[in-house]
Amino acid sequence: MSELHYLHGFGNEFESEALAGALPVGRFSPQRVQYGLYAEQFNTTAFTAPRADNRRTWFYRIRPSVIQGRYRPLENGLTRSAPLTEAVTPPDMLRWSPLPIPTEPTDFVAGLTTLAVNGSVPGQAGIGIHIYRANQSMQERFYLNADGEMLLVPQAGGLRLHTECGILELVPGEIAVIPRGMKWRVVLLNATARGYVCENYGHPLILAERGPVGANGYANDRDFQTPVAAFEDREGAFELVTKFMGQNYVCDLSHSPLDVVAWTGNSVPYKYDLARFNVMNTVSYDHPDPSIFTVLTSPSGQAGVANVDFVIFPPRWMVAEATFRPPWYHRNFMSEFMGLILGVYDAKDSGGFDPGGASLHNSFSPHGPEAAVFEKASHAELKPQRYENTLAFMFESRYVIQPTRFALQTPALQTDYMECWAGLTKHFGEAA
Ligand SMILES: [Fe+2]
Repeated sequence: MSELHYLHGFGNEFESEALAGALPVGRFSPQRVQYGLYAEQFNTTAFTAPRADNRRTWFYRIRPSVIQGRYRPLENGLTRSAPLTEAVTPPDMLRWSPLPIPTEPTDFVAGLTTLAVNGSVPGQAGIGIHIYRANQSMQERFYLNADGEMLLVPQAGGLRLHTECGILELVPGEIAVIPRGMKWRVVLLNATARGYVCENYGHPLILAERGPVGANGYANDRDFQTPVAAFEDREGAFELVTKFMGQNYVCDLSHSPLDVVAWTGNSVPYKYDLARFNVMNTVSYDHPDPSIFTVLTSPSGQAGVANVDFVIFPPRWMVAEATFRPPWYHRNFMSEFMGLILGVYDAKDSGGFDPGGASLHNSFSPHGPEAAVFEKASHAELKPQRYENTLAFMFESRYVIQPTRFALQTPALQTDYMECWAGLTKHFGEAA
């Protein structure tokens, strides 16, 4: 992997060239591009989107993208898209054990398994929530998702993402976002890989605002990294898998589509190390709302109400005085899908919510600490305490999250999940 450069805010423009002088200066589409390259614009917002929101990249590539075969349908496997019609969404609280890694040869695309969706792909609102499980690298197969950008949250095994803009390496504890419509492939850095994907059908993810916190803190702009240009000049029998309107297609390619020698713009993949998140929390009392842990957000169009928020629960100090420190019991408007990257989550510490597993608490489904955690936290001595060995995350959405038929029928669904609250007893009449 070559060096990375920093993404100083999403409204800005970045550029990179793998060969000196490949990037035109002073115009985007000169009559002839250096090295005999073709110019191609790639935009992930409308031409007329306001400057602050506008995203597009100019590629200078060996062949234009129009040189590809005719698409033919490809089976969707275990992937699904919204709107979902195959299953009825129960209001129950749901939890899943980690899905096993396949034993058959399976690459990132073949192993994608949808747990839930919401909103609508044609309506460009909502998300798909997938687990990836792979034991093979993609060498001759490439992927393009026209339905949404892909937020990758690795849980086990490293990935090297070869994209049109260059290469990103990713290990558990880091995340990456691939723009809607970009071509890429996934190489495994270990024998197997597993992780979570949020496929965002809506507004591209942006950094959450800071409000009165000021100019620094939470996820800082400078910690988001884009790749530098790295092109493949490969010819052979390749395939491009494309997800379009919820259906997979495949077409033949005579060459690698990752042949961009230089680029400039801001429709770019990027990565972020979650350890760089500057955690804000109370230094007096009460457990703040989890929105203080928002890393990225996709606005829905209604102020403050997200299509999806990506929220993390990282290692941190807990110092709240005279406070029940775990998450309180709650019933929310927003719907919450949670995953665990490593360690133990503070509201569920007696097993059942394991790294690679997941839970779903939909709109107004009650949830909160399991019985044992309630008892322990209600009587804990409130010294400053460091939460270590923990990294959970949440995809939180304004739209009810609908599990797929697979998710409702898999043996990984824990039918005894509700029993984690069964030990909660009546304390009415006791003195505080
Ligand atoms: Fe919650």
